[in-house]
This record gives sequence, structure tokens and C-alpha cells, in this order.
Amino acid sequence: MSAPASNGASQAGTGVRAPSRASIAERTLRTDRWWLPPLLTTLGLAAFVIYATIRSFVRTAYWVDEYHYLTPFYSPCLSESCVPGSSHFGTWFGELPGFIPLGFIVLPFLLGFRLTCYYYRKAYYRSVWFSPPACAVAEPHAKYTGETRLPLIIQNVHRYFFYVAVLVALINTYDAITAFHGSSGGFGFGLGNVILLGNVIMLWAYTLSCHSCRHIAGGRLKHFSKHPVRYWLWTQISKLNTRHMQLAWITLGTLVLTDFYVMLVASDVIADLRFVD
Ligand code: FES
Repeated sequence: MSAPASNGASQAGTGVRAPSRASIAERTLRTDRWWLPPLLTTLGLAAFVIYATIRSFVRTAYWVDEYHYLTPFYSPCLSESCVPGSSHFGTWFGELPGFIPLGFIVLPFLLGFRLTCYYYRKAYYRSVWFSPPACAVAEPHAKYTGETRLPLIIQNVHRYFFYVAVLVALINTYDAITAFHGSSGGFGFGLGNVILLGNVIMLWAYTLSCHSCRHIAGGRLKHFSKHPVRYWLWTQISKLNTRHMQLAWITLGTLVLTDFYVMLVASDVIADLRFVD
């Protein structure tokens, strides 16, 4: 990696400014558009955060009573502020003030799960924090301390967020199953079910492809041959794990798509395409 020569001596520190690093005048010798991936990452993450924040606070069009479609941003809905029918697990809390999202119980954990995810760390360390912005491009920071002290040492709690994420995936699965509901009761099946189900499958794929999940399945084993079940699980999770980045982005897309579709149907902008009613 290149290092700025002019300030190498005056700002000696760690990382690219360490005295032992090569002294190169340019910030980078790369001539390709290295800035494009971090820029696209920033735009993608910002778009999701803005959309999810707005939708989590608006408290409208999140439940389709006719077909029992519930958007994942409001699941589980556990307060008396939730519209009738949307509280699949009862109302544990009274009315909530408008500044508290109705999905407040799980939203912080889901945010924590994604923020501490190994892939998202790479994404926002590069695109937002420029540490470094790309391979062979010097970072602007004078020091590099990694994740060895506050606040970044908190990233180590990722495995605990993983356990909550599994619980949330189970809740979303329950929501998707109860959504097979006809307009006059009984079984029903529409495009909304395909979207809800697709979202849940992708959420499971993303959650199970987690590096912590892989370690839970096969980590710290000295002899795979003595643990054939864990070895098989580790092998399968490892295959998924190679797609973790893609699944991280796909699930952001399926979450927005699912919420957007539920919003359109719940607000009567479009009618659900029914296959069995
Ligand atoms: Fe990405 Fe665990 S590493 S969810």
C-alpha cells in the first residue's frame, strides 16, 4: 500500500504512516475507478437506512387485515398502539408515544446484528470511514488501532446479536406462515405470500451464513472426524458463508420490497394478486 511521503516523518504512527512503510508521494498509484465501490456502498446503505427509518416511524400501512400480511419492520408488534390483528404474540405494552417505533423490541438488535456483521464492517469501514477506502489507497487517518479498544471493541458482541437474529427469523417465519390467509378465512395464497416467503428464506440464508454461526457449528473442534454432524453442518454453512456479502445486500432488498408491497396493498394503492382466495 502506498503512503504519503511528505508527512511520514512528522506524523509517524501506525498503519501507512509507520516509519517502516514505503515512502510514496501519491495517495495511491491506482489508476482505475477505485472510488466507485465505496461510493455505491455508501449510497446503498444510506438509501436503506433512510427508507427503514421513515417506514419504522410512520405507523401506517403495515398490516393487511384481509390477508394477514405484516411488514417485517413492525414484527413483532407488541403494544396496544398496534392495529387489531397485527399483534401475533399479544400486547405486552400499553399505548406507545409516536416517537417510539412499534417494532422497537427487535429493531435495535437487528441494527446491532447488521452493524457488527463482518461484511457490513468491511463495507462501512471502507466506504464511510475510509479505513482504507480501497486496496492500495492510503487511509486519511493517522492512527490505526483496529478493534482493540472502545468503541470498536464492542464489535465482538456480534455472536450475541446472532442469537437474537435467529429468534427474529423464527418470528418472521411465523408471520409468513400465518399470512396464508384467505379473505373470508381459511387458506389463501397471493403474490404477497410469495414476497413474504421469499424474504424469510433470504433472511434465513443470510442469518445462517453468518461467520459466528459457522464458528458455533464447527469452531474449536480438533477432530472433525469425531463430530460428523457438526462437521456436516459446518460444511453446509461454509458454502453459504461464501455468499455472505451477496446475501447481506439481497436481504436489504427483500426487506424493502416486502415492506413496500405490504404498504401498497394495505393502503389500497394496488390489490394483492390472488392465486387462491
Ligand atoms: Fe455477517 Fe454474522 S458475519 S451476520
